[in-house]
Amino acid sequence: MKLKGLILSGGTGTRLRPITHTSAKQLVPVANKPVLFYGIEALRDAGIEDIGIIVGDTAAEIEETVGDGSRWDVRITYIPQEAPLGLAHAVLTAEPFLGDDSFVMYLGDNLLRDGISDLVATFVNNRPDALILLQEVPNPEAYGVAECDDDVVVRLVEKPSEPKSNLALVGIYMFTPLIHQCAREIKPSARGELEITDAIQCLIDKGKRVEPHVVEGWWKDTGKLEDMLEANRLILDALEGDIRGTVLESEIHGRVVIEEGASVSSCTVRGPVIIGKRAVVHDSYIGPYTSIDCDVEIRNSEIEHSIILAQSKVIDLRGRMEGSLIGKNVRILRLDHKPRAYRFMVGDNSWIGIV
Ligand code: DAU
Repeated sequence: MKLKGLILSGGTGTRLRPITHTSAKQLVPVANKPVLFYGIEALRDAGIEDIGIIVGDTAAEIEETVGDGSRWDVRITYIPQEAPLGLAHAVLTAEPFLGDDSFVMYLGDNLLRDGISDLVATFVNNRPDALILLQEVPNPEAYGVAECDDDVVVRLVEKPSEPKSNLALVGIYMFTPLIHQCAREIKPSARGELEITDAIQCLIDKGKRVEPHVVEGWWKDTGKLEDMLEANRLILDALEGDIRGTVLESEIHGRVVIEEGASVSSCTVRGPVIIGKRAVVHDSYIGPYTSIDCDVEIRNSEIEHSIILAQSKVIDLRGRMEGSLIGKNVRILRLDHKPRAYRFMVGDNSWIGIV
């Protein structure tokens, strides 16, 4: 059975603001790589060569960053969705691309440690009408929630206020073409969206076989800010060291990636750390779980467990920065002239903690 892939990258990134005021949430980098690329790689590694990507307002930026898929040896077709009217609406929008093929639907902001190759093999072998992934979470009310009886899914509810279990629906699903009929039959939810959760419930109501699999390795939905640092930590945990940039008079400990054109001088770097292309890091301490993106400049500062996006500068910080997420082209500098005062120019929903 040849499967297609469908990645959902439409929608608005309101919950990741201010980071996503200027870019698509699926392009926010984790360990210097856009979240979306992990999804493409997971599909490719599972043998899927034909991938449709649902795009919305941020289509141009996504197409420019992802391209035609040749760098992963896959074929990518962009599928514009008129508005983010729900995950099941996205499936209906993709129907001309999907045709009569079974497919893996992958939410563009989800990350799954162990990939999906084994699960795709299970789907192909067992041939259920749909296969869903579940994981126990402490806050099920933020997700689609499954109620199971032994190994059978009895009921699926989208973001219930009183969840009947702590099993959340992971944003990766495997479907046969039967899902199209169900996506057509359901009505919009209270949040005005055609929910894929309801479409899968419709399969269950018709007596179709929906096979649940509880995922063992970690899973992250990076759709919220607080999850980004955690996702960064989890990805960096599996990082392998690779030094291609220049290192001068510095101590490098543990697994550290320094990309081409980056320069690290008079520093102590304790991995896991990734330092992106053309970044300049001088006279600084970079501690574990830090991702420094391309063209960043860091001088005379200490940074740990943080993400710093492209083109930002951190210079002469007195205290150590940690647990921080710094957007693109941000400047954090020390001002020496009088009057001596804090000066902030900060976007909506930002958060600053000072010592
Ligand atoms: O991450 C898992 C959760 O994903 C599941 O537990 C929920 O059952 C499922 O509904 C979904 O919930 P979210 O509220 O997190 O979905 P979100 O609106 O963030 O959309 C997920 C991805 O799909 C995101 O990359 C944007 C894209 N999207 C979303 C909508 C509503 C589209 O491409 N088109 C859309 O119409």
